[in-house]
Amino acid sequence: MRVLIVGCGYVGLPLGKELVRLGHDVFGLRRSVLAADEMRTAGIQPLLADVTQPDSLAKLPRDFDWVVNCTASGGGGAEDYRKIYLEGNRNLVAWLAGAPLKKFVYTSSTSVYGQNDGSIVTENSPAEPEAATSKVLIETEQLLLAATKNNFPAIVLRVAGIYGPARGHSFKQFLRGEARIEGDGARWLNMIHRDDLIGVISAALAGGKPGEIYNVVDNQPVNQRSFFAWLAAELQAPMPATIASESEGWRRRGITNKRISNAKLVAELNYQFKFPDFRAGYAEEIVKIKTRS
Ligand SMILES: NC(=O)c1ccc[n+]([C@@H]2O[C@H](COP(=O)([O-])OP(=O)(O)OC[C@H]3O[C@@H](n4cnc5c(N)ncnc54)[C@H](OP(=O)(O)O)[C@@H]3O)[C@@H](O)[C@H]2O)c1
Repeated sequence: MRVLIVGCGYVGLPLGKELVRLGHDVFGLRRSVLAADEMRTAGIQPLLADVTQPDSLAKLPRDFDWVVNCTASGGGGAEDYRKIYLEGNRNLVAWLAGAPLKKFVYTSSTSVYGQNDGSIVTENSPAEPEAATSKVLIETEQLLLAATKNNFPAIVLRVAGIYGPARGHSFKQFLRGEARIEGDGARWLNMIHRDDLIGVISAALAGGKPGEIYNVVDNQPVNQRSFFAWLAAELQAPMPATIASESEGWRRRGITNKRISNAKLVAELNYQFKFPDFRAGYAEEIVKIKTRS
């Protein structure tokens, strides 16, 4: 297949490398010319454009079978989200209209689920987030799913917290000594290793159904206390300090507490996890840290 990866960063670059390994003809799009050599080394053909600038897209070839949009805002607020996710996807849909596209995969986020009661969340659960940034992601998903009515083959992946080499929010906080246990530490964390996200994107390109939403998360949500207790035991480090639970303020601040189900992903894409839980996924990083110290 001729594949375009829009946003060739932490996920997009190794995804491209993997798709090259599988025999596909892979192009990677980003704004920075500095990354072109890195892409070429991975076997990816670099294209320079900015998804927020339709004129820059208009200059590019558009005869792709598969397109993956994994651009990221790099943090920021709702306005940044609006530009990169909502307008970026809108521009991509307009640019690709009428092209011979077979699949378009967008990496949304499980932050679209606003649940804060620890409940199990499937793709059929309400996605009614409080956070302004997550509301933009919902608008973005709706834009793409509406486009499927005009034969635009969009698939939405709702991705949990990504971890892997040099990444992982709570893990890095723990290593820096900045992690805190909120109240009784019962709040659930939902994660996915980068290699599995790459595997799921490949599976969605090959077998995902346009118009569908799939949660992308490993087999085992873990509560904050258990996660830190495991790290503390593995690294023979102290448990983080406990702070008062602000659960009353969670909803207002957009903090969620939920267990995301991957049942649809497993059943419909037949996906087998390389790292079914955080213990398997962090094992390599733990060994690296232990051998350094
Ligand atoms: N981090 C998480 O835990 C998490 C959770 C759920 C979902 N996600 C989603 O997962 C996806 C992959 O994230 P990641 O960690 O791989 O992000 P990343 O490392 O920040 O990479 C983002 C890529 O997008 C490119 N980019 C940014 N703005 C662009 C623009 N306007 N036009 C063209 N390219 C642009 C960047 O390159 P240039 O700067 O050179 O343009 C970079 O190559 C993102 O869609 C993110 O929203 C992440």
